[in-house]
Amino acid sequence: MMDASDSGAFVLEEFMDLKRALRLKEKYQTPLYLYDVEEIKEKIHTFRNYFRSSFFETEIIYASKAFSVKEMIRLVQKEGLSLDVVSLGELVTALSVGFDPKCIYFHGNNKSEEELLAALENGVGHIVVDNLEELKMLEQKCLEKNQTVAVFLRLNVGVEAHTHHFIVTAHVDSKFGVGLDSSELEQMLAICRNSSHIRLDGFHTHIGSQIFDLTAFDAAMEKMVSVLSTFPTPLMLNLGGGFGVSYTEADRPVPLKEVCTHLIFTMEKLLREKNVSLRRFCIEPGRSIVGEAGSTLYTIGFSKQTPHKLYYFVDGGMTDNIRPALYQAQYHATVLGKEQNEKKQLVTIAGKCCESGDVLIENCLLPKASPGDLLWVHTTGAYGYSMSSNYNKQLIPAVVFIEGDEDYLVVRRQTLEELTEREI
Ligand SMILES: Cc1ncc(COP(=O)(O)O)c(C=O)c1O
Repeated sequence: MMDASDSGAFVLEEFMDLKRALRLKEKYQTPLYLYDVEEIKEKIHTFRNYFRSSFFETEIIYASKAFSVKEMIRLVQKEGLSLDVVSLGELVTALSVGFDPKCIYFHGNNKSEEELLAALENGVGHIVVDNLEELKMLEQKCLEKNQTVAVFLRLNVGVEAHTHHFIVTAHVDSKFGVGLDSSELEQMLAICRNSSHIRLDGFHTHIGSQIFDLTAFDAAMEKMVSVLSTFPTPLMLNLGGGFGVSYTEADRPVPLKEVCTHLIFTMEKLLREKNVSLRRFCIEPGRSIVGEAGSTLYTIGFSKQTPHKLYYFVDGGMTDNIRPALYQAQYHATVLGKEQNEKKQLVTIAGKCCESGDVLIENCLLPKASPGDLLWVHTTGAYGYSMSSNYNKQLIPAVVFIEGDEDYLVVRRQTLEELTEREI
């Protein structure tokens, strides 16, 4: 039996109807990002309930890059998760709402001096160090400030996963982390051993995104546990994020509950087999917490029939969701109020930007729509708002949280004045 948190994007349709959507449009305009708070909470609760072990501590770290706004960070703090930030901007967002810095993990492959200093000065709990040069700079800053910092080292475990496939290779040229057999890693370990200002707490890896095949995580965990086995004291492991969600009916992600129990079971088994102790097992989900809870409401404008395509144009596009243009992401959509129309046709949903690639959904089966109809695109909660842009000087839409019958603004829509206010 699936519970609500496992059943994918399509449960969303229960909380929206044309009347409500029209009210939301009137209040906040379109395009409009919507988040179902209950669904975010359900995902978090599933992680909290099932990502547990009696053999080691566990920690769930929300990857804020998926959707980082103040109200989301407040929710994450209230629900007891830690936070992954990857820039000064994400750090400042977290600190601005009083997020406990000790529960923050600071990531990034090219952190600036300013970012490292901000992490030290604000007492960030862990810095996830990506490379040797970063570790040297961090140690230098710690020396200057006579401060000790706890670090994770980011490993490239040579496992690359994406959706249904993963590959294990000896030398993957990822820009993230250091190779397991690299001299860079040896030098980093030597610095950690010899430095009185750097405390090595554990290792981190992140093998990809939208992963459906759990054996990819097994392969990564096996490599991580082997690394741990060379240390006399139990350290921590952070396996990153990447748990898949359902964008279209073709996506069949493993339910979160199963993901959690599988990871815990496999970790416990590996530790037993290799006779290794683990202090804490961390994961860093982003998409799987907010992806399915988020959706975008658009107004349909003109349509166009070309020799091979019927286009519906919407009042947003690649500026509020770059994912289809960036990596051919697929989405599922509904024309509100016309869900029951049996007669459907293949349409292409395109945005209003001056780019041929500004297509939100290619070949979507939808009922006949007219200008003014509302199109509701599902599962846009991760990397939609956070990757939005002002290309063509489009305004960044508002973000609204929905809780039962209530809706409230968490980011107001950008104004035309704001578009030029930094320009001299
Ligand atoms: C280091 C790290 N952790 C966690 C995540 C979150 O991944 P996802 O949103 O797929 O769960 C990412 C995504 O890029 C990442 O780079």
